[in-house]
Amino acid sequence: MTIPLTDVTPLLWQVTPNPEPTSVEEREKILTDPGFGEHFTDHMIDICWSAQGGWHRPRVSPYGPIQLEPSAAVLHYAQEVFEGLKAYRHADGSIWTFRPESNGRRMQRSAHRLALPELPVEYFVESLRRLIALDGDWVPSAPETSLYLRPFMFAKEAFLGVRPANKVAFYLIASPAGAYFKGGIAPVSIWLSDQFSRAGVGGTGSAKTGGNYAASLLPQSEAYEHGCAQVLFLDSNEGKYLEELGGMNVVLVYSDGTLVTPASDSILEGVTLDSILQLARDRGHRVEQRPVSLDEWKAGVASGDIVEAFACGTAAVVTPIAQLKGRDFSIGAADAPAGELTMSLRQELTDIQYGRADDKHGWLTRLDS
Ligand code: COI
Repeated sequence: MTIPLTDVTPLLWQVTPNPEPTSVEEREKILTDPGFGEHFTDHMIDICWSAQGGWHRPRVSPYGPIQLEPSAAVLHYAQEVFEGLKAYRHADGSIWTFRPESNGRRMQRSAHRLALPELPVEYFVESLRRLIALDGDWVPSAPETSLYLRPFMFAKEAFLGVRPANKVAFYLIASPAGAYFKGGIAPVSIWLSDQFSRAGVGGTGSAKTGGNYAASLLPQSEAYEHGCAQVLFLDSNEGKYLEELGGMNVVLVYSDGTLVTPASDSILEGVTLDSILQLARDRGHRVEQRPVSLDEWKAGVASGDIVEAFACGTAAVVTPIAQLKGRDFSIGAADAPAGELTMSLRQELTDIQYGRADDKHGWLTRLDS
């Protein structure tokens, strides 16, 4: 879908080009090996919200520090949500993004849970187009690279009482990205957290809010200590059912081709997950979203019924899981090869995202025209 580059909102945008943008040489050097989340483009977007004035003063400005009062509510009570999506360069040079309305709607659901205002999806998509209008040259063209787009919103009101803030800011920044994991798309080992939960029933687990990621960091460090790239959480009630990894969803593949992924009110609804499941259904695979126990995974691997596992998310795309390690067990082997279905679904998804295959579901939106 393409949206013309005219205002789709009644907001009047203030655009201040960066007077000292990154040099072409420096930018090209960064784009040849961007890593993940290390470098930022020359501009950023912000839109203010106040209880009295609603959304106002949308701006594109040079990327740089944000001025905040030390008493800004987000610094104390973590009233914050964020999103993650990517801009892809196609072979003809054009720039596209993937299902941005889904991210925009998810940000609204997250905002609702965090008592933040809901940014209209049109503003969300327009902000992506506005940033690309200035920073389009930052979208890399090497295989499997992209420009990671990070919209976020936080309580900026200077107030220490615990109540929803009356002043909020929405921002969008962008960062050129290669593979999320250091080993590229090589299969990863993951660590089962048996001591900590990511989220509880009725909590904020289904919202994309910083607090959930903060809660994952200590167990994530434990994962690193055990040579694992990600941590897997179980449900907080019984410690029995799979939830999600620190920053991505998890899928198991049965030998008959069935894909099984946890259903739970406390995990994030993944846009990449939803897309992969749709592509699998299109191929005639059975897809089950239901509670999945750790015992099911262990027994399935032991019997040979579960043959593949993978992680998926915007940053991770689709990453094969070689091994699950716990304090007193392990499933699979660190050097296990990537699953065949895993890799072919990854290929199909990225072929669509990079314009190499027919976008049969209408998932792409052009950002640069
Ligand atoms: C994403 O996949 O976009 C995420 O938000 C995961 C992580 C980088 C926080």
